[in-house]
Amino acid sequence: MASTTGPTTPNASFASLSEQLSVPKLRTPSWVQTAQFLTRPDLFLERNWQRYGDVFRASIKGFGTGRHVVVSDPRYVEQLFKASPKDVRLGEVAKRPLVPIAGPSSLLVLDQPEHLRHRKLLLPHFHGQRMLAYTDIVRDATERSIRQWPADQPFALRPHMANITLEVILRAVFGVEHGSRYEELRRQLIRIIDDNLPVVLALVFPALRRDFGPIRSWSTLQDAKARVDAILYDEIARRRRPDAPTGQADILSMLIDARDADGDGLTDEELRDELITMLLAGHETTGSSLAWTFDLLLHHPAILHRLRDELAAGETGYLDAVVTEALRVRPVVVTSQRILTAPQTFDGFEIEAGTTVLASIWVVNRRPDLYEDPAAFKPERFLGQRPATYEWIPFGGGVRRCIGANFAPMEMREVIKHVVLSTELTAATPDLEKPHNRIVLVTPRNGTMVTFAGRRREHA
Ligand code: HEM
Repeated sequence: MASTTGPTTPNASFASLSEQLSVPKLRTPSWVQTAQFLTRPDLFLERNWQRYGDVFRASIKGFGTGRHVVVSDPRYVEQLFKASPKDVRLGEVAKRPLVPIAGPSSLLVLDQPEHLRHRKLLLPHFHGQRMLAYTDIVRDATERSIRQWPADQPFALRPHMANITLEVILRAVFGVEHGSRYEELRRQLIRIIDDNLPVVLALVFPALRRDFGPIRSWSTLQDAKARVDAILYDEIARRRRPDAPTGQADILSMLIDARDADGDGLTDEELRDELITMLLAGHETTGSSLAWTFDLLLHHPAILHRLRDELAAGETGYLDAVVTEALRVRPVVVTSQRILTAPQTFDGFEIEAGTTVLASIWVVNRRPDLYEDPAAFKPERFLGQRPATYEWIPFGGGVRRCIGANFAPMEMREVIKHVVLSTELTAATPDLEKPHNRIVLVTPRNGTMVTFAGRRREHA
């Protein structure tokens, strides 16, 4: 993999002296920037990077502190991810949109020292070897999904992938088997995370947190949340009983037993918040990443054939490369944000405290100086080669790196393997999907339209 050397700002050599003295700044009004960021954040990041370079100022309303700096060079991203948690925070700003759903003790909104304490309790349950225990769950969920695909007519694959990933995370976290409790939890979670613009706006702008006549989305959210909470608290209480079975492999059981250095565990409220965080953060992200991967595979038949041949021969190296490359070229989360509580210097520019710094995942993953032909889907680039830490950042980095960064690729590998080996699936559209911003994720605009021509004979 190429490394970043020297100044990489595309237009650095043309920058005037005055531009070099202050951070380049977007000239469009804040509301235009906000609209562009909310509709096509990928284009917002890429075009402004091409125009303004590796460090530029922006102003996006309702997002972070409202005063932004976007950094797109791996060196600055590394600096940001490695900065002392005393100097960069997140929780305070993430609280406003996230607490109404995820609660005040969610990893997503905590800052030091509680953030570190929760991470230490959670992370051991997401390490490499542990992931092997979940592969059967993934295979089962995939098989159940395939049985529901309509034959010989185009359909959107993304919702089916999201169903698989919801089932997987529910079962991995709770060990819940199918039954009325599981179905109710699933139904209510879908009500919470449905692609619902009024709710998204209300989370960003608290003044909108009420019903407007017939638009009752806020009370619907409250109702769904209350039902989810009731099930989660009941599930926690059952696991805490002295006669509860021991040695369970699900994440909730293990979290209940987890203790910090002082011998303290998580309270019921903390457990509830972390459970819902995992369910919400782990489901649409992975489902949409799978939808992108199939969009890429089905539009690149040679890659698909090679993958199928290698899987049939029991080889998994190419599958790993496919997943790594899909997460590079189509990251569903396109920025990672931090709030500065102390000034930081990027590229010689001092950025003041109170600024929301956005690490541009989209641009870093697709830089031409790091990746040849960066917009192309070429799994070969990762064959036998792992990406460099700060040059491939679909899961962010540092002390806030995604805790599902092992779980999600494991899940993607298993789903892809099973679908590729056991189904005849073709693209239903001639071109690759365009990106579309769905709540906070960049997903395929039409949900990856495919046609299912039945099971492959050897696996029918
Ligand atoms: C392909 C799937 C996924 C992608 C692309 C993804 C991406 C991300 C990103 C970019 C972040 C922010 C990291 C940062 O700011 O440095 C994050 C955080 C997080 N993710 Fe994921 N994620 C995925 C799957 C999952 C799964 C399966 C889980 C649950 C098990 C999960 C749980 C979390 C949590 C709890 C955080 C907050 C971590 C913290 O603040 O300490 N994610 N994820």
